[in-house]
Amino acid sequence: MTVPALEHFTDIDSLTSQQVWGLLRLAKRLKDELQEMGQNPPILAGKSLALLFQKPSLRTRVSFEMGMVHLGGYAFYLSPQEVGLGTRESPADVARVLSGYADGIMARVFDHEHILEMAEWGSVPIINGLSDFSHPCQALTDIFTIWEAFGRLEDLLLVYVGDGANNVATSLIQIAGKVGLAMRVVAPPGYQPDPKIIQQSGAAVEVTDDLDGVKGADVLYTDVWTSMGQEEERAKRLAIFPPYQVNQALVERTGNPNVKVMHCLPAHRGEEITDEVADGPHSLLFPQAHNRLHAQKGILAHLLGGVALPEA
Ligand code: CP
Ligand code: NVA
Repeated sequence: MTVPALEHFTDIDSLTSQQVWGLLRLAKRLKDELQEMGQNPPILAGKSLALLFQKPSLRTRVSFEMGMVHLGGYAFYLSPQEVGLGTRESPADVARVLSGYADGIMARVFDHEHILEMAEWGSVPIINGLSDFSHPCQALTDIFTIWEAFGRLEDLLLVYVGDGANNVATSLIQIAGKVGLAMRVVAPPGYQPDPKIIQQSGAAVEVTDDLDGVKGADVLYTDVWTSMGQEEERAKRLAIFPPYQVNQALVERTGNPNVKVMHCLPAHRGEEITDEVADGPHSLLFPQAHNRLHAQKGILAHLLGGVALPEA
């Protein structure tokens, strides 16, 4: 029995547990191959990927671009100003036009509906490179990083501290359900996950505003308090979130001397995370950022190169 192929990568929710594991295994195979051989075979020779951005990016843009280079393909960047997704041109038209030029579209958008509209109208795979609702490439990378750091996912507790309702938290909850990772979200009232997301994910997620919720964490995860597109709420959020800063005291409060700290980056250092923790011995921040390349190569090899998702 083979793992059913994916058409798009729009959300973790639309994948089966088997497909998530297939992507993780494929990513590991490509990363191991790169480390052992110094290169990957050009399985995407002649293939191209459009990189469509409505928001800024460092990691997503560069890791997708370099992922295509590693696999022998080509990527081209389209800035917010030139495309005007949803203003100059509808997402449906953009997707149909780009489908005639490229073999895949990676899009970073404000409105998640635009990702879904492109998937409906385009005839090539659509990859969600972050929307207001979710960040599935990040979540896949994060699970890959935890799997790599611990050698397992069983019996681990991931505690997410901060804005529990944002795109990164949502995708982490969704993927926790797929891989059976226990999660706790420590977030102030009003910034806690939508109970429907937790319920649909099937994940074991506890939610609390009590900072003692970090106790027993194997991984402490945080993200910015104000996401891209929420800038007008920044002052209000800065008044609410400071107790939820991931600092040395909070790391010690986990009671776990081996706890790992993760952050999707970019960080607002001195707000949600201190330099001491970000640059300290618990930090996985840079291996995590580097793994964007490897996790997304798995997605690209499968969606654009037709490489089957390994079963085991
Ligand atoms: N983590 C992440 O998506 O980073 P960028 O916004 O720099 O792409
Ligand atoms: N939650 C953050 C993630 C950035 C990668 C944002 O949406 O801005």
